[in-house]
Amino acid sequence: MLKLKSLDLKTEKVPTLIIPVCEDERIHDNKSLIPLIEKALALSEFKGESDDEVVFYSPPGTAAERVVLMGLGKREKLEAESFRKLCGKAVKQAIKKDLKDILFAVPADGKTGLDFADLLKAMLEGACLGNHIFDRYKEEKKKKPLETIGFQVDPDIAGAHAALPEKVAAACKGTLLARDWVTLPANDKRPEMYADSLKQEAEAAGLSVTVLDEAALAEKGFGAMLAVARGSEAKPRLVIMEYRTEGAEKTIALVGKGVTFDTGGLNLKISGSMADMKTDMAGSAAVAGALIAAAGLKPHCNVIGLLPLVENMPSGTAIRPGDIIRSYSGKTVEIGNTDAEGRLILIDALAYAVDTYQPDTIIDLATLTGACLMALGEKFAAVFSRDDALAEAIVAAGVRTHERCWRMPLPEDYKELLKSEFADISNMPSTRWGGAITAALFLSEFVKDARWAHIDTAGPVYDKKGNAYSPPGGTGFGVRLICDLLDRL
Ligand code: BES
Ligand code: ZN
Ligand code: ZN
Repeated sequence: MLKLKSLDLKTEKVPTLIIPVCEDERIHDNKSLIPLIEKALALSEFKGESDDEVVFYSPPGTAAERVVLMGLGKREKLEAESFRKLCGKAVKQAIKKDLKDILFAVPADGKTGLDFADLLKAMLEGACLGNHIFDRYKEEKKKKPLETIGFQVDPDIAGAHAALPEKVAAACKGTLLARDWVTLPANDKRPEMYADSLKQEAEAAGLSVTVLDEAALAEKGFGAMLAVARGSEAKPRLVIMEYRTEGAEKTIALVGKGVTFDTGGLNLKISGSMADMKTDMAGSAAVAGALIAAAGLKPHCNVIGLLPLVENMPSGTAIRPGDIIRSYSGKTVEIGNTDAEGRLILIDALAYAVDTYQPDTIIDLATLTGACLMALGEKFAAVFSRDDALAEAIVAAGVRTHERCWRMPLPEDYKELLKSEFADISNMPSTRWGGAITAALFLSEFVKDARWAHIDTAGPVYDKKGNAYSPPGGTGFGVRLICDLLDRL
C-alpha cells in the first residue's frame, strides 16, 4: 500500500499529487513542482501557513489530474510531526473524496532541516495511520481506505530508503490493531474473547502464543490477578506472546494492563469516570501491537509480551475493601480500594515475568491512575524507572515517535504511604496526593532488582475527538514508542 516512486511528473499520469509547502522557504527542488508552488503562493488565499490549502485541476507542466498544495508553516518550526500530521490529514481528505490513489511529493534531502530518513518515515507513518477506518458496527460502510499511497522521491536517494515503507507498515499495523482493540466496546472484548482475538492476530503474524486459563493461573499462584477477576462472570486469561530471534543476546519483557472494563469493583466508580473504562486494557493492546509489529520488524532481541486480562466488576463474589490476598510473589496485599485493580494484576504478571524469563529489561504499560492524567494531561505518558539510561531512552523514543513521555520520580520515602497494618503492603496509598507515583512505587516492590520501567499511559491512549492521523477512539499509543526502543535497549 505504501510505495516509494520516482516518476517523471511532467509525463506520468498521476490522479492526485499532494505537495507540502512552507510559507517562507522552498523545500522542493523537483523542476515540475516549482512553477506550481510559485503559482500557489502568488494567490491571496494560499500563504503556505499550516492548514492553508489550494487545489489545481490538470495544471500545465504536470500530467497530474489534481494537485493539492498543503501548507506547513515556517521552515524553522518544522518537525517530523508536522509531516505526520499533514500526510494523515491529506489521506483522510482523500478518503472523504472517494479517491483510491494519491502521491505525496516528498521534500528534497537537506531542504527541511530534518534528517531525510526521519522526514520520509514520518510521512509514511502519518499516511498509513490516517488510512484506517473503524466501521465494524455500522451497517452502511460509507468510506473505503485508499488502495495505494505513493511517495515521490528523488531517484538518487530512493534506493537507500527502499526498506522503509515495509518497516513503517509493520509498526503501523501493530498500532492500528491496538487502536481497534481499544475502540472495541467492552461487551465484545471480555477477557476470554479478547484473548482469542489477541492469539489469532499474534499467531497470524508468526508469534508463538500461550494462554493461561483460570485453572492454570490458580495452579501457578496468580492470587492478585484472580482476586480482581473474581467479581466478574468473565474468566481471566494471561496471554503470553513470544518473539524469538536466533543469536539474540537480550530478552525484553513487556507487560500490559488488560482490564477489559473497570467499574471500580465494589468501590464503584461514579458514572462520569466509568464512561471510558473500556480503554483500561490499552496497555495490553499496545504490548500486543508491539509484539505483532516486532514479528515484521525483526529486532535483534527476544521480546516476550505478557497480558493479564480481567474484568473488574462488583458482585457477590467480588473482593472487598479490607480483604487480604496473596500475590504470585508470595507477598500479601491488603485491598484498600478495589478500584486500584490495575496494580494488582500487574504485580503478578511482572513477578512471573521476572522469575520465568529473567529479562534484561522489563517495561510495563498501563492506564494505571487518574492522577497521571491530572499531572500530565491527555497527551503525555509518565515514565518511572530507577535506571536513568532506560528512562532517558524511553523519553527520547517518545520525542522521535511523538508518543510523548515525561519522567517522574520514584522517591523511596513515599513508600511508607503504602504501609498496611496487617499485610505486607496496601494497594491504596494513605494520601491521594502523588497517586501516579505511589502506584509506580507499588509495582516497584514486585520486580526484584530487574531493570524495569513503568509507563502510565492513562492520558494518551484514547482521543475522543481524533486528530490528524487518528480518528476518534483508541490511539495505539505505545506501539511505535516500543518499536523505536527495541533495537536501542
Ligand atoms: N483505570 C483506572 C485509572 C484511570 C483513570 C485510567 C482515568 C484512565 C482514566 C485505575 O484502575 C483506577 O481506578 N485508579 C484509581 C486508583 C486509586 C483508587 C488509588 C485512581 O486513579 O483513582
Ligand atoms: Zn480502577
Ligand atoms: Zn483500571
